[in-house]
Amino acid sequence: MKITIIHGQNHNGSSYQMGRLLVDQISGENEITEFFLPRDLNHFCLGCYRCIENDADCPWHEQKQAIVDAMEAANLLIFTTPTYCMAPSAPMKSLLDLTFTMWMAHRPRASMFLKKAVVLSTSAGSSTAGATKGISKSLFFWGVPKIYRYGASVQAMNWEGVKPKVKNKITKDTGRLAKKLSKNTPPRAGIKTRFMFAVMAAMQKANLSASPVEKQHWQAQGWLDKARPWKRA
Ligand SMILES: Cc1cc2nc3c(=O)[nH]c(=O)nc-3n(C[C@H](O)[C@H](O)[C@H](O)COP(=O)(O)O)c2cc1C
Repeated sequence: MKITIIHGQNHNGSSYQMGRLLVDQISGENEITEFFLPRDLNHFCLGCYRCIENDADCPWHEQKQAIVDAMEAANLLIFTTPTYCMAPSAPMKSLLDLTFTMWMAHRPRASMFLKKAVVLSTSAGSSTAGATKGISKSLFFWGVPKIYRYGASVQAMNWEGVKPKVKNKITKDTGRLAKKLSKNTPPRAGIKTRFMFAVMAAMQKANLSASPVEKQHWQAQGWLDKARPWKRA
């Protein structure tokens, strides 16, 4: 299985370790590509909207494209982030901003409808839901049909400070998830994804898109007719 991991932090702390624990417990031959943010994408969206017409016109296209290509090539996407102010880290949020044209409202990538994703986060004491939901919302709108979220409050500033009992629980929980993922079964697009896709197709048909380029994208894939990205050839 091809796995692309995106860490919303440069350091190998608790969120990174949670991601490693998950990956290390996924059986089979796995090809892993890893990115660290901001090391591998050190920019914020400028709001210039140049990407609406052409992704390559984004000032940060080159760095961004390496990550998008690796995500497109993967069967499984894994995101890790510390919970910062009950939200994903700023560099992770920046990646989501810089990929907003991949939302179903714009020019979704067909490959996303065939992937699974896992969103992981650690916090000191609060819920991790704000961080994991913040990321999984983008993934849903990219079209990813199966998204797992898992978080743990570790009461620590780094992995060394995490108590053995908490580490054991994280190991067990990620192990259970890894067992499911090891089966490598193809995900099915659920009713929510299909419904959202139909709404966005209707929007494109009604010429309500941000640019004619978007409608051309939908037309070229046959999505304004009967073709659907989750249907395998
Ligand atoms: C800028 C910043 C904001 C934080 N915000 C929260 C928070 O909202 N809730 C919480 O429980 N912990 C918060 N923490 C603590 C971290 O989420 C926690 O230590 C986490 O396990 C760090 O993960 P890491 O080791 O992967 O960096 C914050 C830490 C920092 C540095």
